[in-house]
Amino acid sequence: MITTDINKAKAVLIKNDLVAIPTETVYGLAGNAFSEEAVKKIYRLKRRPFYNPLIVHVKSTEYLDEVATDIPDVARELAGIMWPGPLTLVLNKQKYVPDLVTSGMNTVAVRVPNHKVSLVLLNELPFPLAAPSANPFGSISPTSAQHVFNYFGSEIDIILDGGDCERGLESTIIGFENNQAVLYRYGSITAEEIEKVAGGLIVHAKHDNKPIAPGMLAKHYSPKTITVVSDNVKKLVHSYKDKKAGFLLFNSKINNEDNIVQEVLSPNGDLNEAAKNLYAALHRLDSCNLDVIVVEYFPDEGIGKTINDRLQRASS
Ligand code: TXA
Ligand code: MG
Repeated sequence: MITTDINKAKAVLIKNDLVAIPTETVYGLAGNAFSEEAVKKIYRLKRRPFYNPLIVHVKSTEYLDEVATDIPDVARELAGIMWPGPLTLVLNKQKYVPDLVTSGMNTVAVRVPNHKVSLVLLNELPFPLAAPSANPFGSISPTSAQHVFNYFGSEIDIILDGGDCERGLESTIIGFENNQAVLYRYGSITAEEIEKVAGGLIVHAKHDNKPIAPGMLAKHYSPKTITVVSDNVKKLVHSYKDKKAGFLLFNSKINNEDNIVQEVLSPNGDLNEAAKNLYAALHRLDSCNLDVIVVEYFPDEGIGKTINDRLQRASS
């Protein structure tokens, strides 16, 4: 059920059952990160392959050392500035973090989420929370409690409602190689912001079917409807005349096309607003029984890079 009762969520988690939690990025499917029993349930419910590791959510920066070790100075600096927030750090794991959480790797992904509800919950719990996005593997991430319910219904005992996600795109994932920051996944914090603090950034977030970081699968974040991305949607619209097509656009509608489905993400041309609205718009389009979803490429800068990354994977 969908609820705002944090105590109910706590009770379920302590039994090693699962709760969907709100974060500033997307909703997570959370369980006790130190319990193999709970972590197994996450993989099972998400139908997620075991080779794709989970992010561990901790209550504060001080708690970092409880899950990670050999932490580079630059990682501490990033955490100090950006946590709570949509930055995930990949670091050497502490021995007692279950191998199931990290897919057998000796690194663990960790972040402090920036959402009041989840922070209160984490502070009530004697363990951190492993939580992937609360969607079946490969599908569009949920940015509202209702999205989670639409996917899982009563298969999740408790969906904690924390409203619509403020950021709307997943966290940025950063690892470290020879003390240098490496970008594994574009996310809500821009590459530019990371680079400024880290003094440099290597980008490994390429499309790949055999990724180094398993999260970088070429196909991911996908609607059920066939999705294509174009840098000239407005010209293309006529070639879809005979199809039931829906259009996902940045800041303006296609003129004189009142009889087609159109979603405009930010009439003011604000990329952050577009990011926040992206998944909800994709969920809506995906429920319209269309033949095809046509999406427009975004300006390839700042958070626009993350949007384009997700659109490419959605359409791949
Ligand atoms: O914003 C977010 O990060 C959300 C919220 C719920 O926190 N979570 C999320 O989790 O997006 P998920 O499971 O959908 O994506 C986590 C990504 C996966 O692509 C996984 O491969 C990567 O993190 N990952 C986890 N552990 C890793 C590790 N040790 N090394 C490299 N990549 C890792
Ligand atoms: Mg995900």
